[in-house]
Amino acid sequence: MSLFIKKPVSDLMAEAADSEKGLKRTLTAGSLVALGIGAIIGAGLFVRTAAAAAQNAGPSVTLGFIVAAIGCALAGLCYAELSSSIPISGSAYTYTYATMGELMAWIIGWDLVLEYAVGAATVGIAWSEYLNNLLVQVLHMKPIAYQWCHSPFEISAVTGEHGLINLPALLIVSLLSLLLIKGTQESAFVNGIIVITKVSIVILIIIFGWHFINPVNHLPYIPEPSVFKDHQGISHNYGGIMGILGAAGVVFFAFIGFDAVSTAAQETKNPKTAMPIGILGSLVVCTVLYILFAHVLTGLAPVEFFRTTGKEASVVAAINMYMPGYGWLAKLVTVAILAGFSSVILVMLLGQSRVFYSMSKDGLLPKVFSELHPKYKTPYKANLIILVLVGIFAAFVPGDIVGDMTSIGTLFAFMLVCAAVIILRKTDPDLPRQFKTPWVPVVPILGIIVCASMIFGLGWTNWLRLFGWLAIGFVIYFNYSKKHSKLRQGGDKS
Ligand code: ALA
Repeated sequence: MSLFIKKPVSDLMAEAADSEKGLKRTLTAGSLVALGIGAIIGAGLFVRTAAAAAQNAGPSVTLGFIVAAIGCALAGLCYAELSSSIPISGSAYTYTYATMGELMAWIIGWDLVLEYAVGAATVGIAWSEYLNNLLVQVLHMKPIAYQWCHSPFEISAVTGEHGLINLPALLIVSLLSLLLIKGTQESAFVNGIIVITKVSIVILIIIFGWHFINPVNHLPYIPEPSVFKDHQGISHNYGGIMGILGAAGVVFFAFIGFDAVSTAAQETKNPKTAMPIGILGSLVVCTVLYILFAHVLTGLAPVEFFRTTGKEASVVAAINMYMPGYGWLAKLVTVAILAGFSSVILVMLLGQSRVFYSMSKDGLLPKVFSELHPKYKTPYKANLIILVLVGIFAAFVPGDIVGDMTSIGTLFAFMLVCAAVIILRKTDPDLPRQFKTPWVPVVPILGIIVCASMIFGLGWTNWLRLFGWLAIGFVIYFNYSKKHSKLRQGGDKS
């Protein structure tokens, strides 16, 4: 039987219509935009912006944001078409099952674990770092001992201490998993409050920080091309076009998550109109905020600051140093960042459980992943298993490694989503599409090219990690999923 057996789109639509028996439909277009912003603004903006300025592009990190946003917008337009025509839980996984067949669907589903589960771990680790900032700077307490908030692969550059386990990262991931089990509606409400706080803080920094921009720090806006060697001896292309592209790869992390909206299609009222608004709306809002924020941050302090004293907790450090009288803002930012990171983790955990839910419904994963809680109607067993998986990454793997794995996995998923639009237009031309991607196939092809170039920029160690991850996935597919696939048990429909 073909490895490329396809799930008929009509089956997907019937499953979506059958939602009475499954997940509750509670989300609106507004809550989807909030969900998207909740997923997007996080460690990428508050940590990677300064890093990209320091290592790659200086003030022209803003241009890096534009490049990354273009890639995301192209993929986002493809996501919007697919999520509005196939309004069912599972995101890129589901679209791929209908268009490119079971093996590709498995690959993408497995790959999405990198985006959602490993992404949640990455932000959990960043949360852990900022928790120490809160303890020391805001609450004037002692920091958590190094070994209890770092993975065993990390050694302190200051004291030489070894890490053991990242307990705060484990804690936040556990708390949010329990919140998700309680129900999506409640989670979306908590997320809404956090999103308002987070966006307000970003806007406050832009408004107050604007007056402290020192124009000298923006000169030259695009630095002359050179090689910057960081304190670990790693060389980066700094300045010029290569610097901007490098920065785009680094800050791409800040955009990861807007596609998570599409995983909630089955819990959305009127998904056909709400999904495109949710996906593209959250992307547009964040892009504007990011560019203004990066402009202010690089205007406050010289690049040298972000390479030295301002390397850690860069935003708070820059406010404390270059915005006299705004200590209160620095404290507020620390609190908001912790809340902001929490909402990112929440949406990623939600996305992961929904992808596993769909894969389990199709028989590619064991039934336990789709069993709903009798009262809360959430896939609670899946949430608990994901908690273990994410917890292991959060507790025992360094943040930069999981961060890069998240980026490469997401870019790969974006490419497949773009390809799926082209294929579905050919195989199912009459499928009602509430939202149509413009200029097909130009937009999807450009999306593939831009994402592929960012993958290229991430370097060979990350390509190897992606291949390694996919290899594990193949082993599971051929030993379990292929044998239990419900589509196969119902006959070859390819
Ligand atoms: N975009 C998310 C963040 O920046 C992943 O934290």
